[in-house]
Amino acid sequence: MSPTASDPSTGSTQQSPAWQALRDHLPTVENLHLRQIFADDPDRGSELAAHAGDLYVDYSKHRVTRETLGLLRDLTAASGLRERIDAMFAGEHINSTEDRAVLHTALRLPRHAELTVDGQDVVAEVHEVLDRMGEFAGRVRSGEWTGATGKPIAAVVNIGIGGSDLGPVMAHEALKSYAQRSLDCRFVSNIDPTDVYEKTLDLDPETTLFIVASKTFTTLETLTNARLARTWLTDGLASAAGLTAEQAQDAVAQHFVAVSTNEKLVGEFGIDTANMYGFWDWVGGRYSFDSAVGLSLMIAIGQDQFAEMLAGFHAMDEHFRTTPFEQNVPVLLGLLNVWYVDFFGSQTHAVLPYSQYLLRFPAYLQQLTMESNGKSVRLDGTAVQCDTGEIFWGEPGTNGQHAFYQLIHQGTRLIPADFIGFVEPNHALSDADGGQVAGGTDVHDLFMSNYFAQSAALAFGKTAEEIAAEGVAADVVPHKVMPGNRPSTSIMAQRLTPSVLGQLVALYEHITFVQGVIWGINSFDQWGVELGKAMAKELAPMLTGEQSTQGQDDSTVTLVRRYLQGRGR
Ligand code: F6P
Repeated sequence: MSPTASDPSTGSTQQSPAWQALRDHLPTVENLHLRQIFADDPDRGSELAAHAGDLYVDYSKHRVTRETLGLLRDLTAASGLRERIDAMFAGEHINSTEDRAVLHTALRLPRHAELTVDGQDVVAEVHEVLDRMGEFAGRVRSGEWTGATGKPIAAVVNIGIGGSDLGPVMAHEALKSYAQRSLDCRFVSNIDPTDVYEKTLDLDPETTLFIVASKTFTTLETLTNARLARTWLTDGLASAAGLTAEQAQDAVAQHFVAVSTNEKLVGEFGIDTANMYGFWDWVGGRYSFDSAVGLSLMIAIGQDQFAEMLAGFHAMDEHFRTTPFEQNVPVLLGLLNVWYVDFFGSQTHAVLPYSQYLLRFPAYLQQLTMESNGKSVRLDGTAVQCDTGEIFWGEPGTNGQHAFYQLIHQGTRLIPADFIGFVEPNHALSDADGGQVAGGTDVHDLFMSNYFAQSAALAFGKTAEEIAAEGVAADVVPHKVMPGNRPSTSIMAQRLTPSVLGQLVALYEHITFVQGVIWGINSFDQWGVELGKAMAKELAPMLTGEQSTQGQDDSTVTLVRRYLQGRGR
């Protein structure tokens, strides 16, 4: 570990007077209903809102008074948040357990910006890679880059997992309406062999390009899938296009490119390092799709729109870096998350995008937030003194409404929720099968009426008196009571553009960071995933039946025995 000037490894926010003040304050708020909170503070709906870039963020429907917000802000001083933000942007090694800078914000710095870290001109290197990516993406999109038999590329398959998959998958889905539809982009991640099988089943090897994305280039899933894909390609080119085995091997250079920080292993895998797009150890996997890891996305949406997305990220970075904490949206939302996790005992947080394009956004956020803040040890190695990392989950509205919203509305758990919606749809509604419902209501209006209704229903509910007044039988009334007092944030933007997507992602990156700082943990390592990986490697030879399971626990031995029997070994 390399301590830095801003290393807050001594003293814990949880022992600070600011934390104690919140504890003392809690009883006055805990028993207040949001109905009352709004009655006492009638302008909060318009006043407890902030702009961050193109996002309008309404945080009025939270179980806080203005006093609570002031007390929560005191946590920022107690935790040294200002110093930690500055340290991150300056490239200090705040990822202390891996002795690394944390500089995903540098990936979106404009070309004219200056940042030198550890003797490296970071901005120049970032833009050198972006330019190479842009050149390559342009050639693939125009058909100038061809497969080995001279045919233009029709399908791009990204092979990666975790941060080398979830970001590109999510963003590709989110920005589908900006993509070159003639290119079929697919994503393979799971080592379950059906993933490669299904994703390549109807593809033509002559027109398929694989991008092997792996920061370390050691990840078992990705390398295994890349080998399967290479065999699919060479076999396919030999059988369908009549290439000799040697020609098919040579053809790999035209059909495989790599994204990695590990040039040596890329070369050893057999990918021409001239076709490798690099990034740096200061980019965490879950913070990487705005680096070369986004190559598949750039091919889909083009260099200019990728640049717009980066500008969106940067706008949110600047908001986070420079806006006073009273109006700083990532800070406010991070503090509110801490409020619910540590003072109300909330264990989960729902993310509910009212956009089908954001289908994979909750899954993307799961890695971002849970791999970052799923920690129980502070920076100094001592145990945390409060709960950390809540569970993020969600589905696009209105699908979620017909599935799990019941529990959020009437269940016993307090689940803060983020509603994300857009004023305009991404395509003319007349394109979509008429675009109007009977009665002439615009379908997007109908969709968004749910966005507005749900957060209001959660906050204000419906009382027994109101329900009884509708003539509901007395014995049914309690079942219909909507308790309300369930908090949410409403995030709204004009339209889902590449820039707005960048802003949204950066918003959640910084919220995650704020929470990590308040908790005093390192949000940038992920040691917890290593043991399972090592054990899977140890167990793999036992599944052939040749190596004994001796030394394994009784449950594992029994399960493996059943598996071996089932496979006839
Ligand atoms: O196992 C977790 C993890 O290390 C993630 O943090 C990372 O995004 C993923 O694996 C993939 O790693 P790589 O890009 O090195 O293949």
